[in-house]
Amino acid sequence: MKGVVLAGGLGSRLHPLTKVTNKHLLPIYNEPMIYHPIRTLVQAGIRDIQLVTGGQHAGDFLRLLGNGEAFGLRQLNYAYQDGEGGIADALRLAEPFAEGSPLCVILGDNIIEKGIAGIVEAFRQQEEGAHIVLKEVPDPNRFGVPVFENGRIVRVEEKPAAPASNFAVIGIYFYDSTVFQRVSRLVPSGRNELEITDLNNSYLAEGKLSHSILDGWWTDAGTFESLRLASNLVAETAHKETAMKESPAESKQLA
Ligand code: G1P
Repeated sequence: MKGVVLAGGLGSRLHPLTKVTNKHLLPIYNEPMIYHPIRTLVQAGIRDIQLVTGGQHAGDFLRLLGNGEAFGLRQLNYAYQDGEGGIADALRLAEPFAEGSPLCVILGDNIIEKGIAGIVEAFRQQEEGAHIVLKEVPDPNRFGVPVFENGRIVRVEEKPAAPASNFAVIGIYFYDSTVFQRVSRLVPSGRNELEITDLNNSYLAEGKLSHSILDGWWTDAGTFESLRLASNLVAETAHKETAMKESPAESKQLA
């Protein structure tokens, strides 16, 4: 399985922070945001990774990441998105890189506490189709939201005003090799973007979309509040890990 990190976009919800840099280069506590999705892939055993970005600051990714040495990689691939066509449009650029291999696609501002190795393994066993990952959230209207009927997902709605469930579809997706054909059939949404939610619904319409629930915390980081939350969660987790290392017995009692 190959990994694709989508790190384009204008980051307009974070102006003026994103006027002189890309959103995914902003700090999350002690590291640039982009370290998190790359590490999520590498820790799950995915080492063949392409980063898709765009805009005026794309060169900064190369300066920061090089060939991915910080993650123990020998090579990191890059693709450049001209213009603003949405997440699914950015994914198109990964077609030559994918070479028909199944993909794990992760949005560059998605940060998780634990790993996805178990989900990666489960998708390796799934012969075709796609897989989405859900997390219960207090504000589902900000995300893609699954609609359940009799325990099964019947559709995913993008940022619904009246969410049908308390789950968000997080920005970690798994696709088989039909993904690029499907993206080419998508039509732009009301916000004039090719939506990843429409892509997921195309699999769902054929009964080919499985799902799992993420263990541990998850957040995106594309707004001031979620950026702050992401930093706080990462800092708290780092402090807990340090305490565990320094005094395992005591910190277990405190936990
Ligand atoms: C995107 C997707 C949305 C998903 C979210 C996860 O939203 O469109 O379905 O739930 O990422 O982070 P965006 O951040 O582009 O508004």
